[in-house]
Amino acid sequence: MRKDINIGIVGLGRLGKVHAGNLAYSVPNVNLLAACSVVPSELEYAEKDLGVERLYTDYTEMLEDDDIDAVVIVSPSHLHCQQVIQAFEAGKHVFVEKPLGVSLEEMEEVKKVVESRPDQVFMLGFMRRFDPSYLYAKELVDQGEIGDITLIRCYGIDPHAGMESFVEFAKKSSSGGLFLDMAIHDIDLIRWYTGGEIKRVWALGNNIAYPILDELGDLETGAALCELDGNKIGIIVSGRNSAHGYHVETEIIGTKGSLRVANLQEKNLVTILNENGSVRPTSQNFPERFKEAFVNEMKAFVSYIQDEIPSTITPDDGIYSTMAALACGESLKTGSIVDVTK
Ligand code: NAI
Repeated sequence: MRKDINIGIVGLGRLGKVHAGNLAYSVPNVNLLAACSVVPSELEYAEKDLGVERLYTDYTEMLEDDDIDAVVIVSPSHLHCQQVIQAFEAGKHVFVEKPLGVSLEEMEEVKKVVESRPDQVFMLGFMRRFDPSYLYAKELVDQGEIGDITLIRCYGIDPHAGMESFVEFAKKSSSGGLFLDMAIHDIDLIRWYTGGEIKRVWALGNNIAYPILDELGDLETGAALCELDGNKIGIIVSGRNSAHGYHVETEIIGTKGSLRVANLQEKNLVTILNENGSVRPTSQNFPERFKEAFVNEMKAFVSYIQDEIPSTITPDDGIYSTMAALACGESLKTGSIVDVTK
């Protein structure tokens, strides 16, 4: 019988709690043995609600625990690369949330360390690749159902109901900006579906509804026009001000047809008929919309470790997606079209 994988998680914030809950209750063959956070109430939650035995406020100390086989990193983005390298050098398998890093140099360092230890699993958290609808669309694209892709249009807009918690998050640690924090999921989808890279970008943005984001150096609404390999086109719309809930929508246009994933942000199959007319409730936040995807990606991580196979999401996926996101940030700042180069 295969041994359960002992996991230590770092970060128990907005997303860390989702991963920790899944590891404790929804993912088989794992034992959420340890948790690390700098927030005492989060450690209390891990102990009381999830039954986590070993609690740490210091990540380096957690890595010294020889019983831990794998680490799940859900800390602020600027810490990811350093924490991946430390964990890999301590002999742990690593799952790290997106984005892999915030600069090319640190991500190249991760790639070097990961490649020098092929027996350890490295996986980057682009959970949309584990969402049943996105997976189904991928199968159709790969089977040639819509011919050759000509254009991908992506929307990723957080609910304005989450603005207060986002402002707190952004005050504590920079999100890296809208393109690195949000659009990176769409950048990953563009790369995943087309199998090519983003070559040039032109980005725009504003803070019309939430000027407070100017003070935090972040964006409420942004858009990027992307030139892709093979003369294909990408259109990205990102934001933090969706009134109706969590709006993630993708359209893939091909030479023989097109696909739309979630072109209505339906919560379920219920329609309410009332004085407002016919109302279709919508998904309200990322844990709700991608509930299944978050569980599936953790199951995949565990199976890669147990079956000793490499993850399909590599450091290069982190490097190229971050490079495209940073190019969008640069384009926004300079007002120019920016080449995506190393
Ligand atoms: P958060 O600010 O809510 O939580 C951060 C956590 O990191 C806290 O538990 C804090 O104690 C811990 N932490 C901070 N500094 C630490 C240190 N030096 N040592 C140990 N722990 C430390 O952040 P949130 O929103 O949960 O985001 C975390 C990461 O997850 C980010 O990289 C973000 O980009 C990513 N994310 C991904 C999403 C997705 O859709 N895949 C959705 C939301 C976040």
